[in-house]
Amino acid sequence: MPADPLIDFDANATTRVDPRVVEAMLPFWTENYGNPSGGYRFGKIAANAVRKAREQVARLLGCEPEAVLFTSGGTEANATAIHSALELNPSRKRLVTSSVEHHAVIKPLEALEAHGYSVTRVGVDGKGNLDTIDIDHIINNETALVSLMAANNETGVLFPVEALASKARERGVFFHTDAIQAAGKVPLKVSETAISFMSISAHKIHGPKGVGALYIDRRVAFRPLFLGGGQEGGKRAGTENVPGIVGLGVAAELAAEALENERTEVAALRDFFERSVLERISGVRVNGGGACRLPNTTNLAFEGIEAEGALIMLDRAGICASAGSACTAGSLAPSHVLTAMGFSRERARSSLRFSFSRFNTRAEVERVLEVLPGIVARLRGL
Ligand SMILES: Cc1ncc(COP(=O)(O)O)c(C=O)c1O
Repeated sequence: MPADPLIDFDANATTRVDPRVVEAMLPFWTENYGNPSGGYRFGKIAANAVRKAREQVARLLGCEPEAVLFTSGGTEANATAIHSALELNPSRKRLVTSSVEHHAVIKPLEALEAHGYSVTRVGVDGKGNLDTIDIDHIINNETALVSLMAANNETGVLFPVEALASKARERGVFFHTDAIQAAGKVPLKVSETAISFMSISAHKIHGPKGVGALYIDRRVAFRPLFLGGGQEGGKRAGTENVPGIVGLGVAAELAAEALENERTEVAALRDFFERSVLERISGVRVNGGGACRLPNTTNLAFEGIEAEGALIMLDRAGICASAGSACTAGSLAPSHVLTAMGFSRERARSSLRFSFSRFNTRAEVERVLEVLPGIVARLRGL
């Protein structure tokens, strides 16, 4: 364990569970352990808790509760959307996505390619913005699904998913967005858009791990991924993870309340950190700077260092940050997001992501600013 108190600047990997979330979940492991499908009053307590959580998530997403499907996390939400779109469009063999998606979209689409689907990966420019020039030709009547993330987990760059979803709908094409990083950080009003599916994950918004949700536009047809019992209105078989769902519900409610704080306080923390690093350390560039970004994320390239070394030294000082997404940490491959932005392997491998949450403080930023220049100087001297 680090000697210093932990400073967690890796909120895009996961977040501290809010104590109010833990408190709300506890009774559903202890006295209220009933099965929501039970016809007796004990079961109804759990069923009512699930219903309340659905309303809380719906308020965060800006949709009707009936449009919310609970899943085992963001990865399953993504897989469910992809599966449904393909089941309903057996004759359409084309998929559209971006070159900077999370592996929870990349990998299922790669697997589909191996089964005869063709996948078009729309590129990004040097700021991380999606290259939408050819999009009108790319989305056509052979397309089964467009899947584009709302916000990038590495750079925080936002994609114009609402406008792109409208284009997809004009052509009768399902549109999925992985909003796992966007939810709770930027306002969402999904039912006012042409988006067919939107994925979120509890552990990115101070909720528990292993639970998430998929928004499903009630105007579009749906085919379940899991078959079995009739839970979730027949849309997802399997006894509900009641404590997790309760936790997601409370996390969503708290995230909705804290949205303004993200835009002001969390953004101010990120901006102060970014500005100070640029002032105090030479040869630093902001990956995704100049694009519309999440308020909590900064991705910085430190000329002449290896991010892996910096992460180890930061860790020794009790500081968590990340190079690329957490799922690929430990691998030496440069980030696919940064290379898609046209950066060299060197720049990609010299980049660190710092992502903040409402639990971070100015004092923590000051502490990291004390340590980071020395770490960069030492690595540059090697
Ligand atoms: C953009 C994005 N999509 C999907 C996921 C996967 O979500 P989960 O960990 O809930 O399966 C993550 C988590 O890192 C993510 O950042």
